[in-house]
Amino acid sequence: MTTPRTAEEYGAQLGTAGTALSTDELLRATSAIVANIEQVIEGKTAIVRLALAVLLAEGHLLIEDVPGVGKTKLAKALAKSIDCSVRRIQFTPDLLPSDVTGVSVYNQETHDFEFKPGAVFANLVVGDEINRASPKTQSALLECMEERQVTVDGHTYHLQTPFMVIATQNPIEMEGTYPLPEAQRDRFTARIAMGYPAAGAELAMLDHHGAHDPLDDLSAVADADLIRDLIVTCRQVHVADSIKQYAVNLVTATREASDLRLGASPRSTLQLLRTARAVAALEGRDFVLPDDLQALAVPVLAHRLIPTAEAQLARRTTDAIVADLLHKLPLPADPRDNRRR
Ligand SMILES: Nc1ncnc2c1ncn2[C@@H]1O[C@H](COP(=O)(O)OP(=O)(O)OP(=O)(O)O)[C@@H](O)[C@H]1O
Ligand SMILES: [Mg+2]
Repeated sequence: MTTPRTAEEYGAQLGTAGTALSTDELLRATSAIVANIEQVIEGKTAIVRLALAVLLAEGHLLIEDVPGVGKTKLAKALAKSIDCSVRRIQFTPDLLPSDVTGVSVYNQETHDFEFKPGAVFANLVVGDEINRASPKTQSALLECMEERQVTVDGHTYHLQTPFMVIATQNPIEMEGTYPLPEAQRDRFTARIAMGYPAAGAELAMLDHHGAHDPLDDLSAVADADLIRDLIVTCRQVHVADSIKQYAVNLVTATREASDLRLGASPRSTLQLLRTARAVAALEGRDFVLPDDLQALAVPVLAHRLIPTAEAQLARRTTDAIVADLLHKLPLPADPRDNRRR
């Protein structure tokens, strides 16, 4: 494939629609991807599956945790498991917005402007240590995430499908970091913390990773076409009205919670349902259960919320507040009950 130069050529390269797969085909493809990543990341099955669900829900992932728990490894392993274009951006204070989006440069030979695409022109963009870039550069990336397009010098370039940003950052306030503003955090479909591996998994890590890095041996088990098919399949997962109502009740509860100064956005409601569809599909179901929303409430909603000053003083995290809201909210009817009737 030649590198597109003009806005029209970028448009022509937009992903083809994709075709829906059977449940068996989907399960075979997704388990192969999960197993592949697990050759590199020990003892984190739930997190690996969630990362894949976010990709299939056409979302973006923020991995936030202390240093050395495998954030970059997970992002790289997912990227390596899929044979598609991957770009890695190491965020530093001197990274410019045009490094992310691209620039038009004058070509002496053709006497015309030529577009040099930036790092976002890829299927998977790994943004490492995103909170080390200046707010201006962060916002350049976040615009692309939302709109899936880049505008440079009046030309709009569409990004490819799939398009996923996997960003990593450390939560601890460090010198030279610019914390993502809430409006920008809202662009991330889910935030996950890796957490320390269990003792057994850490021992296995010493055995498998002690001598050499298994990431070097990892090969792709899927390509961009397959991912597009998986995305289309996930979109067809059924969501009953009672489940939609439950999602709305949940986000409304965050907006009314006395512990929260900022509740969840309508964007988050959409992303919650989309990710729930993908999670259901990964479990071989063609319908969403209330449990899917419950399992996703913290990773999809908590990073967007702002606690009140009192809640902050009492060291109440937004994770705990969302968990409490879930606990209090009446459960919807199980959609399987209607089907049996
Ligand atoms: N659960 C795990 N399974 C396998 N290896 C792990 C796990 N957790 C950490 N590691 C290993 O620890 C090392 C550090 O991982 P990585 O560079 O991904 O950390 P990080 O979270 O990105 O850290 P930083 O915030 O400093 O960038 C890697 O060699 C990685 O393989
Ligand atoms: Mg890292």
